[in-house]
Amino acid sequence: MTRPGVGVVYRARAFDAPDDPFTTSGPAFRYDDDLGLAVSDDGVITERGPFAAVAASHPDAPTIDLRAGLLLPGLVDTHVHFPQVRVIGALGMPLLEWLERCALPEEERLASTTYAATVAGELVAGLIAAGTTTSLVFGSHFAPAVDALFAEAERFGLRMTSGLVVSDRVLPEPLLTTPERSHDEAVRLAKDWHGRGRLRYAVTPRFALSASDDILAACADVLAVVDGACFTSHVNENNAEVATVADQFPHRDHYVDTYDHHGLLGGCSVLAHNVHPTDAELDVLAARGTAVAYCPTSNAALGSGMFSLRRHVAAGVRVALGSDVGAGTGFSIFKEGLQAYFLQHLLGADGLPLAAGHLLHLSTAAGAAALGLGDVTGDFSPGKQFDAICVRPPVGTSLDIGLRHAGSPEEALGKVFALAGDADVADVWVGGDQVASGGFVRPVIPPAPAGRRTPAG
Ligand code: GUN
Ligand code: ZN
Repeated sequence: MTRPGVGVVYRARAFDAPDDPFTTSGPAFRYDDDLGLAVSDDGVITERGPFAAVAASHPDAPTIDLRAGLLLPGLVDTHVHFPQVRVIGALGMPLLEWLERCALPEEERLASTTYAATVAGELVAGLIAAGTTTSLVFGSHFAPAVDALFAEAERFGLRMTSGLVVSDRVLPEPLLTTPERSHDEAVRLAKDWHGRGRLRYAVTPRFALSASDDILAACADVLAVVDGACFTSHVNENNAEVATVADQFPHRDHYVDTYDHHGLLGGCSVLAHNVHPTDAELDVLAARGTAVAYCPTSNAALGSGMFSLRRHVAAGVRVALGSDVGAGTGFSIFKEGLQAYFLQHLLGADGLPLAAGHLLHLSTAAGAAALGLGDVTGDFSPGKQFDAICVRPPVGTSLDIGLRHAGSPEEALGKVFALAGDADVADVWVGGDQVASGGFVRPVIPPAPAGRRTPAG
């Protein structure tokens, strides 16, 4: 007899990487040639095991056979900018010049809510096409644009955390706000969106360089009143930026302290980049449980520097991957994983050698943990939401040929990171809802906004 609520059994060749391979000595990933995953009507994995056993305990549940591809947990992007979809690919500039010439003029255009709604559609489609099911998205400086983003994420069923970006100095005037206004708009946005379906709110000062102590204090007030909100910003990305922040905040110990002083760093906090940290800063991040979004293609494209994964791991700082669109070169978290592998390899003794299992962990479970969603998503353990992608390359492509000739699961996973792109991400599920099928992205029926629900749902 079918167990109550078990809607379907997925049959797949499946990889996942729940255990942190940087701190544990076991295998870096799990692979099952014929895995069964029973998934309830509300999208929760209720049983995992050999397909024959799972199917036998759910004889009335339909089976969906995915063995033509490889099933992976949905990818997690811990740092991606909503308003920068259209500026991906501008090369040759360091951070501050790139902001001034590329990113900020585009961000000003989101003052138009119509424009913002179109870009929100492009962002959500880009994430799904890349297989990203969970994301921490740097929002817009304009509250109606952030509404448009949340609405679009809800329409497509994405698991997304985002918020109003706030700044009160240095940036072009249209992007500036005041501590009072930023507080009121953030609280209003959080009231409307935080905890609704799969959406959550993130308090988001752009970076200390464009934030006064007053606006950082206002951010702390928002965090205090919005239960379960996250925090995100940038830190230690570029040497000129770091020097400017040191001049602006002479009374702080270091860049990380500009945020920590206001109590902004905690377990659901993600700071992007951290390419140039001091040991003292790493210690603070570790003590607060704050994660770092490692954005390999952005760090290379802007020439920001060489990220020391080794020092972060040694200090006990959690690290996950971010695309950093639009400084990063696209939405693909596979590409970020590959670029991380390259850079760590090139760093020689200063690098941390990464194998395919490390890349899968960084792309999935590490991201979920960084966002405080480790109990919800990131791998295929019972109790987790069925957030998944099926990698099924078109016949005759290099990835198709490579996978057919892979000598081991490790080799196959390496080929996925080396070769997979959007065209290979055939199917995408979030919380059991299929949001892309055969490569086509489609909306899910948005849940009725019947009051606040749990952020995990
Ligand atoms: N620091 C402040 N704003 C930004 C941004 O938009 N992108 C990157 N990479 N760094 C930033
Ligand atoms: Zn960024």
